[in-house]
Amino acid sequence: MSIVVTGATGQLGHLIVEHLINRGVTPAEITAVGRNTARLADLAGMGVATAVIDYAEPASLAAAFTGADVLMLVSGSEVGQRVAQHSNAITAAVAAGVGRIVYTSASKADTSALILAPEHKATEEALLASGVPFTILRNGWYTENYAAAVQQARETGVYLTSTGAGRVASASRSDYAEAAAVVLTTPGHENAVYELAGDIAWTGTDMAAALTEVVGRPVVFTPVSPEEHTAILTGAGLDGGTVGFVVALDGNTRDGLLAGGSSDLATLIGHPTTPLLDGLRAVA
Ligand SMILES: NC(=O)c1ccc[n+]([C@@H]2O[C@H](COP(=O)([O-])OP(=O)(O)OC[C@H]3O[C@@H](n4cnc5c(N)ncnc54)[C@H](OP(=O)(O)O)[C@@H]3O)[C@@H](O)[C@H]2O)c1
Repeated sequence: MSIVVTGATGQLGHLIVEHLINRGVTPAEITAVGRNTARLADLAGMGVATAVIDYAEPASLAAAFTGADVLMLVSGSEVGQRVAQHSNAITAAVAAGVGRIVYTSASKADTSALILAPEHKATEEALLASGVPFTILRNGWYTENYAAAVQQARETGVYLTSTGAGRVASASRSDYAEAAAVVLTTPGHENAVYELAGDIAWTGTDMAAALTEVVGRPVVFTPVSPEEHTAILTGAGLDGGTVGFVVALDGNTRDGLLAGGSSDLATLIGHPTTPLLDGLRAVA
């Protein structure tokens, strides 16, 4: 079986390639694709085929996808351009006769008010319209997203957010990558949509307790209002766009949009998801 993995030069895609090999896929059956040639060279050292692609360049996609049985389409990182980019990838996969497309989406992308959901929703719609068999992995939040919180806690002893009592069911990138490797290599996932999230939905207080363990000093959860948060981040020198994004995301968290509630991830990978404390220790 020939599997093409996009975003393989990034963190999640690289882990997907590793999990595929761990699950017994022959490296020669995998084509790892992305833009960064240094990281592609690193992947070639693992024995996988590589190709340079850019979602904005259809010819590069056509060349890379030819002969693929399954396309692992890892969502891109250029927010605002992703619907066109992902649509290019889907169109190229259809033209190349790819048998199935697996796409990394976002939690409840079709209905969620999550600020990141619209591009994923539009991509899911393009995927459904393409007529190609698909598997949608609606990935929840990565624990690795809290690397900056670890650093802040180490320096200040404070975990400050405007998430209120909102919970986050995060899991490690490796958990999500393992789930991708499972649906790429086992039958029964055609036209399935999985809501992937960590087993435990933690609060800001839980996060502060975990940070206390990880950084070795007492860390206090300090909830603030969105207005206070905006003023604090602006005062720290962040640009308006970043401040708006962070505060909006905390609002989404406060509203429970990252709280998970599905056991699909643990079921797919066959073991509990990585606990918050272990995920933070790996980040630290
Ligand atoms: N669930 C979450 O918590 C969460 C958090 C952050 C991101 N995400 C999403 O999950 C994806 C994977 O996460 P990650 O941590 O692996 O992100 P990452 O390390 O930033 O990797 C992003 C990947 O997308 C590739 N890419 C971006 N623009 C591209 C383009 N125009 N053409 C071809 N490839 C392109 C990059 O390729 P090059 O490096 O070679 O340019 C890289 O391989 C992200 O891209 C984003 O959509 C989810």
